[in-house]
Amino acid sequence: MTNIAGYRRPYPGTQPNHLHPHYVSSIKRAPLRPLVSMPHTLTEITGPLFGTESVDVKACDLTRQHSGDPLGERIIVSGRVLDENGRPVPHTLVEIWQANAAGRYLHKVDQHNAPLDPNFTGCGHTLTDGEGRYRFVTVRPGEYPWRNHYNAWRPAHVHFSLFGPAFATRLVTQMYFPGDALIPFDPIFNCTDDEKARNRLISHFDWENTIPEQALAYRFDIILAGRDATPWEDSRSQLGK
Ligand SMILES: [Fe+2]
Repeated sequence: MTNIAGYRRPYPGTQPNHLHPHYVSSIKRAPLRPLVSMPHTLTEITGPLFGTESVDVKACDLTRQHSGDPLGERIIVSGRVLDENGRPVPHTLVEIWQANAAGRYLHKVDQHNAPLDPNFTGCGHTLTDGEGRYRFVTVRPGEYPWRNHYNAWRPAHVHFSLFGPAFATRLVTQMYFPGDALIPFDPIFNCTDDEKARNRLISHFDWENTIPEQALAYRFDIILAGRDATPWEDSRSQLGK
């Protein structure tokens, strides 16, 4: 039988706890019994793979999906997707979704009393290039209230979903903006115990990629699996408020 080398498991504390009582819905979702560690088989380490046929080349610009310009501050979000050894992950699918500039999602569950923007859907996707780079044009999402606790507000964030080369490298996470005063109060951000790992969720202001008179830029590198892996957004719920 062939011996299959799986991906390295995360270090303790560098991924969110399944149970984080300050993030109230984790109380219902967290497993009550110890988890069973599954071996990585061919199924987990060889797919699924998404090629160019899965991608609309225009979907990387969220400001060009309607007839008019969306409201808000135009920004560029870019970075690299890296594997557990720091090597680029080429031609891999990166999907994002976010609130509009007023802090409202185009989703029936979102009842926040803020306006929808007819020129902004808030979803995009792209493939990384041969060196693992991705790039989106979008607007800066607004902060929004949620009912986790009294007067709870989420920091501005962009949701990310990646598969990487295999199911074992699947990642759903959130990118935050540097200097956001709400970050220290956010129970979802704080689900990850390790401070260094947690801070990998905060993008960097990216002067080099700003476009004069057009857009500021933020850099968000994503590491799939291994010691320095980007933390999941919470306890594997994949719903993400
Ligand atoms: Fe969100």
